[in-house]
Amino acid sequence: MFPKSPNMELVYLSPYTMSITFFIAFLFALLIQAQDQSGFISIDCGAPADANYTDSDTGIKYISDANFINTGVSKTVVSELQRTYQRHMWTARSFPDGKRNCYNINITRGSNYLIRTNFLYGNYDGLNESPNFDLHLGPNRWDTVTIYNASEDVNYEIIHVPSLDYIQICLADTGHGRPFISSIEIRNLKNITYATQFGSLQYYKRCDLGTNETVGAYRYNYDVYDRFWAVCDFNQDWTSVVNELITADSLGQKNYKPPAVVMSTAVKPANASAPLVISWDPEDENDQFYAYLHFTEIQVLAASQKREFNIMLNGESWYEKESPQYLHVDTIYSPSAFSGKEVKFSLEMTKNSTLPPIISAIEIYKVIDFQQLNTFQGDVDAIISIQSVYEVTRDWQGDPCSPVAYLWHGLNCSYPVNDFPRIITLNLSSSGLSGKIDPSISKLTMLENLDLSNNSLNDEVPDFLTQLQHLKILNLENNNLSGSIPSALVEKSKKGSLSLSVAQNPYLCESGQCNMKEDKKNNIVTPLVASISGVLILLVVVTILWTLKRRKSREKLTALMVERDQNQISRQYIEQYDSLRQPKKQIYSYSDVLKITNNFNTIIGKGGFGTVYLGYIDDTPVAVKMLSPSSVRGYQQFQTEVKLLMRVHHKNLTSLIGYCNEETNKCLIYEYMANGNLQEHLSGKHNKSKFLSWEDRLRIALDAALGLEYLHNGCKPPIIHRDVKSTNILLNEHFQAKLSDFGLSKIIPTDGGSHVSTVVAGTLGYLDPHYSTSSRLTEKSDVYSFGVVLLEIITNQPVIARTQDKGHISEKVNSLIATGDINGIVDSRLEGDFDINSAWKAVELAMNCVSLNPNERPTMSVIVVEIKAALATELARTYGRGVDPRYSVEPVSVNLDTEFMPLAR
Ligand SMILES: *[C@@H]1O[C@H](CO)[C@@H](O)[C@H](O)[C@H]1NC(C)=O
Ligand SMILES: *[C@@H]1O[C@H](CO)[C@@H](O)[C@H](O)[C@H]1NC(C)=O
Ligand SMILES: *[C@@H]1O[C@H](CO)[C@@H](O)[C@H](O)[C@H]1NC(C)=O
Ligand SMILES: *[C@@H]1O[C@H](CO)[C@@H](O)[C@H](O)[C@H]1NC(C)=O
Ligand SMILES: *[C@@H]1O[C@H](CO)[C@@H](O)[C@H](O)[C@H]1NC(C)=O
Ligand SMILES: *[C@@H]1O[C@H](CO)[C@@H](O)[C@H](O)[C@H]1NC(C)=O
Repeated sequence: MFPKSPNMELVYLSPYTMSITFFIAFLFALLIQAQDQSGFISIDCGAPADANYTDSDTGIKYISDANFINTGVSKTVVSELQRTYQRHMWTARSFPDGKRNCYNINITRGSNYLIRTNFLYGNYDGLNESPNFDLHLGPNRWDTVTIYNASEDVNYEIIHVPSLDYIQICLADTGHGRPFISSIEIRNLKNITYATQFGSLQYYKRCDLGTNETVGAYRYNYDVYDRFWAVCDFNQDWTSVVNELITADSLGQKNYKPPAVVMSTAVKPANASAPLVISWDPEDENDQFYAYLHFTEIQVLAASQKREFNIMLNGESWYEKESPQYLHVDTIYSPSAFSGKEVKFSLEMTKNSTLPPIISAIEIYKVIDFQQLNTFQGDVDAIISIQSVYEVTRDWQGDPCSPVAYLWHGLNCSYPVNDFPRIITLNLSSSGLSGKIDPSISKLTMLENLDLSNNSLNDEVPDFLTQLQHLKILNLENNNLSGSIPSALVEKSKKGSLSLSVAQNPYLCESGQCNMKEDKKNNIVTPLVASISGVLILLVVVTILWTLKRRKSREKLTALMVERDQNQISRQYIEQYDSLRQPKKQIYSYSDVLKITNNFNTIIGKGGFGTVYLGYIDDTPVAVKMLSPSSVRGYQQFQTEVKLLMRVHHKNLTSLIGYCNEETNKCLIYEYMANGNLQEHLSGKHNKSKFLSWEDRLRIALDAALGLEYLHNGCKPPIIHRDVKSTNILLNEHFQAKLSDFGLSKIIPTDGGSHVSTVVAGTLGYLDPHYSTSSRLTEKSDVYSFGVVLLEIITNQPVIARTQDKGHISEKVNSLIATGDINGIVDSRLEGDFDINSAWKAVELAMNCVSLNPNERPTMSVIVVEIKAALATELARTYGRGVDPRYSVEPVSVNLDTEFMPLAR
């Protein structure tokens, strides 16, 4: 398997060590760079606990894995292999016990990492097997580690942005041999590199093209990020071109920094006029790929020479007129993933070009979507604390709830859709526990079953157990607990909402009876009598309790019915009361809806969540959104959520008038917006389409921003819209804009499929590319989507172009900003009728909103202020040519420094 990393790095130098000077420069570079490993974590698994050494070939500093894991045993590969492999591959940690063993490694959440795990079996156990086992990243399966050849190493590598302050790398036994691992290497990459729209990147190929080294791979310190670069065979007729004068110091590098040794070689087609083709056949045509193509001109061109080529991807233009410059690296990639039965890049020289296309390196990654969320952090903290207090020796490692097959022994969890798994059962029965009942248990706030029976727990039954609101079963039998049981627990148990078992705790008493016991203490009785009477009293108490319980359970039934009846009465009363206050009826039956919509006569819209019909309630037009049955079936909180949303009122949010809630017929009734949605007007598809002036556009943007700002800051808890897009911005008869469909992601928690996926909440192109890494959509995700809408308002371009030059609107605008020509960016139909500063301000604001790093995006409050300022500038132009003193207009600055250049358009 490739890439291999035998310790032959210095040998590679020979073609490049043209002079002794170069060699000295290299050593010097090695010294400097060896210090610069701040973003590296290099772990030699199975090395002695105090191991801490610098690898003599690479200068990488490795440490032992002892501080990252408590399980497993140290092993050493056969000695022949120690001659060919670097030292970190010589030992391995092997896991004879446990289904899953995990490393815990602290990192910085939200930062971008290359994570590589290396495996060299080397017949360390003398069994000469070919084991295979699973590799997990926290709650998600990452890959299956397969050893084909004991003498060859295999590597599994991803580029991933962790959402917690640690990562867990786990080895899971699947019954096909004993898991082991040789080393773990984590490298901090620049945050803005290798960004994806969703998911993480799994290594597929990383090719040093034109190299004449065919055995090993270049890595650190040729590569500052320690990526492995090796030869790839694309089975094409190519000629290598080499320029040994290209060195690290001479190269103009940007963010991706492919190593100079890799960039100093390139390939060109053997037939100079033929295209240069790089293609591969994915195992699955639905596999999503990202590719990074690295170019530099390899020779100093004469004035009459020109190298220029277009890059086609699967027959469509991907990037035009690439003309690499001498000693400058161009990295070309696309902001969104691509797929196909065959993936084919074709580099074709343009008519003006006198030289064939060349390419120095290509990186190819496959999208891997780690969809399973980690267990709720509060629960993890609590259970870890419980584990350490009671020194639980079970194999409690990795994520407590996920993957389900590796659920911690003694736990059970709930797996809510689109939310973190929660611990609902803790069963530490017969686990040899001693000491007090640990307060951390009360932090498991969703706990339903708690079984601590048959241990040696002492001290009192703590009050904090009463805080567990969902607790249904509490078993404390057969311990040494003493004192009285908190009355709230006894109450609950009497009411029948808690099954409480406390038998076989000799010193425990129910609240009322404790005084009796203390009274007894005052009498002077011989210990023997005391213990006998103790037993007798216990027997009596148990008998009384038992009969009480039996009687109670019968009483309980009647009591429950009475309670329910009362409830119904009070609910009806509340509803009457509500309807008194608010004359409009809010709940409609399906037959009402049929009347309102005149049997669904007029469709006014269609969306992912269902169809929207025109209706009339007392001659007032309304929009009736019928939710698709599959999406809401069985969703019990529907009514609660809708009622909450009906309380949200703002002039820039479409108001929810009512709803219907029958098993398969669920609908939402909104105020009717006469002028349809923003998209229709921008595209001219509305039947009475209005041409929107720059001022109109800014007003609409401001309205929408105010609505969103209210959802974020005016609602407690904040409401995240999750689906801001131009078709969700509706216009009333006065062209006032209102945001619609807010809170829908709460009402419709899933698309009905089995995947717990946030992809459904959001629309491609508007979806925050950062969401997958942060695992939850935040306010800043809405800001991203709003930025995309703002770009649409400004440019009137499609969000994702379907024409030849595919790409996201933000990339397109970004590349146009560099030209400094605002007229090239703003919708040409405005014919320049807008204030230039106002437009620049809007563009700058929109580009900040779509920053890949959520921290760089402004809040909605700031956005409101900025749009107001842009509007003021425009108004100053159109009215009176004087600035309205109420608005302060800040000087406009535009960031022309585009980091992403060059990009696919
Ligand atoms: C990358 O992002 C993380 C989280 O936002 C941040 O802590 C870190 O400083 C960033 N790194 C760089 C180099 O900007
Ligand atoms: C295993 O790999 C070694 C070293 O690459 C090679 O010499 C040997 O032939 C391989 N064995 C098999 C069975 O492929
Ligand atoms: C070829 O180059 C000339 C002069 O540099 C330029 O005017 C022309 O547009 C180019 N043609 C193409 C197809 O790029
Ligand atoms: C865990 O809970 C689920 C649902 O509540 C139940 O079906 C399952 O049997 C439980 N598993 C264990 C091991 O108790
Ligand atoms: C806890 O586990 C024991 C066996 O280990 C089992 O007998 C008992 O029923 C479990 N308790 C609960 C509440 O599931
Ligand atoms: C109680 O726990 C002990 C070990 O701690 C075990 O041997 C015994 O079987 C358990 N008894 C019950 C009733 O579960």
